[in-house]
Amino acid sequence: MTAAAPIDVASIRADLPALSVQVHDDQQVVYLDAAASAPRPTPVIEAAAAFDREYPANVHRATHQMAAQATAAFEAARADVARFINAANPHDVVFTKGTTESINLFASSWGGANLGAGDEVLITALEHHANIVPWQLLAARTGCVLKVIDCDDEGNIDTATALSMLGDTTKLLSLTWVSNAIGTVVDLHPLITAAKARGVTTLIDAAQAVPHLPVDVRELGADAIAFSGHKMYGPTGVGVLWARGDLLADMPPWQGGGEMIRTVSFAESTWNDPPWRFEAGTPNISGVIGTSAAVRWLESIGMDAIAAHDAAMTDELVTRLTSIDRVQLVGTPQHRSGAASFNVEGMHHADCGMLLDRHGVAVRTGHHCAEPIMHRLGVSGTVRASIGCFTTSDDLDAFETALRRVIEVFG
Ligand code: ALA
Repeated sequence: MTAAAPIDVASIRADLPALSVQVHDDQQVVYLDAAASAPRPTPVIEAAAAFDREYPANVHRATHQMAAQATAAFEAARADVARFINAANPHDVVFTKGTTESINLFASSWGGANLGAGDEVLITALEHHANIVPWQLLAARTGCVLKVIDCDDEGNIDTATALSMLGDTTKLLSLTWVSNAIGTVVDLHPLITAAKARGVTTLIDAAQAVPHLPVDVRELGADAIAFSGHKMYGPTGVGVLWARGDLLADMPPWQGGGEMIRTVSFAESTWNDPPWRFEAGTPNISGVIGTSAAVRWLESIGMDAIAAHDAAMTDELVTRLTSIDRVQLVGTPQHRSGAASFNVEGMHHADCGMLLDRHGVAVRTGHHCAEPIMHRLGVSGTVRASIGCFTTSDDLDAFETALRRVIEVFG
């Protein structure tokens, strides 16, 4: 495979107005919180605004011209997202309001129909709350059981350990691809292959993978994946659940209302086909249209080139952190993407984040909606720096300088 040409970070940054914002009056923001939300490119902002300005009609309902235009743009966005993840059929792409809703949809609909008392859902110690709590809610409803593949002290998921936990009662393997809290990239292929061989269904939380790595659902081989628009430079309030068409076809609705039905009477209702069966009510039309602009923006840069850039920036971030006295990395996984978590000896993570913010450096602090992995690694929280295709060595230099200064001044 030939290496992708390097990305043109200057022109990427020119597309991202948020990077020019000054914080605390006169500090140029250094944005290292892409894992929480990536900045929006101008074409994304414009595409969403054009809908609101020029054809703000509802989709799939009326026949007037504005409504037809909105519906066409909405369904074209579905095709764009399908192409982006190499899905065979755009109708296997369900729009939701985020990764969290996508996993809740899957848990409620597929889980409710397929998991009974004693059936096991296998997750890892790395999961975001969005891939823990929906299964706990389902367990309370159906009696299914949540089991956890532990990680090692560095935050790696050992493949042999994971495989040894696939048992006769395992019905679902629901795994994060990339840990939002510590950046571990899970080696999914052997796990998905083994699950498939045993007839275990697989769901992948790809929220932190999609902005950094090329995603090809056919190559991945999972039965379903979930991700969010705003982590891949789209608007907030849009998520995707992609699932194999035959799986979706058998899944019952999870929310009732307009659009998800074929017929309704007071006696009974019948259901629309997927994906609309799972999209009750008026969707986030401008957000979906913005998401399709984000897809086209990422495609114009190239995901292979983004992956190479983001890997280099992630390595540089870790190298810089490792060079600073009193900084302790939390999680030192073998394969990492996009983020590094750390604490400064003697300093609370919230204080560190607040002081970095005074230098214009935006990071996230706390448990990152992943309390179990924090506890597993023996901390209550961390400072997390996360990068994107817009990140430069200058950003990391500013971050390192600010962090050294914070440590020095704090004492
Ligand atoms: N899940 C997002 C994060 O990791 C919000 O920050």
